[in-house]
Amino acid sequence: MSERVEVMLTEKEVDERIQAIGEQISRDYAGRQVHLVCVLKGGSFFMCELAKRITVPVSMDFMSVSSYGGGTSSSGVIRIVKDLDEPLAGKNVIVVEDIVDSGRTLSYLLKMLKDRGPASLALCTLLDKPDRRVVDVKVDYTGFSIPDEFVVGYGLDYDQRYRNLPYIGVVRFD
Ligand code: IMP
Ligand code: MG
Repeated sequence: MSERVEVMLTEKEVDERIQAIGEQISRDYAGRQVHLVCVLKGGSFFMCELAKRITVPVSMDFMSVSSYGGGTSSSGVIRIVKDLDEPLAGKNVIVVEDIVDSGRTLSYLLKMLKDRGPASLALCTLLDKPDRRVVDVKVDYTGFSIPDEFVVGYGLDYDQRYRNLPYIGVVRFD
């Protein structure tokens, strides 16, 4: 059985969309500083590209979470593997994620971060799979809404591989 990646969104399409989101965030937060919170590892490529295109002052922090219980669907209860270095109090926080799928992880994480008292809290995701939503999550900035397919690239992995692809693709087995 061979494995190949079919392109869903080209590098150019992704770049142009990130540029547009960067401009939108720069307008929305005019006169303020934004604090980008990256959810590792998937959100890292998107956050770096996005940060370069934001023209208001930017600070960044990183966290890593893992969902309790195995299996392919997340339970929603998450464990902090690496916490943020800085407090969030008084900051205009934007959580930057690779993808919102069932919404379980994000819904739990956003509640947890809200308790830390940020001035504002928004969610920015490169990809959204709305058909898969189980828990309601308010997404403030979405790169692309995509169909229910397992995608890789731009930070997203299949068995820890393909994160480095500069485009979004679907793994096909033939
Ligand atoms: P959920 O929204 O709690 O179901 O989980 C979202 C997480 O599942 C994401 O942050 C990804 O790590 C992972 N995930 C969901 N869909 C995909 C996919 O299509 N490709 C790769 N990872 C995915
Ligand atoms: Mg993720």
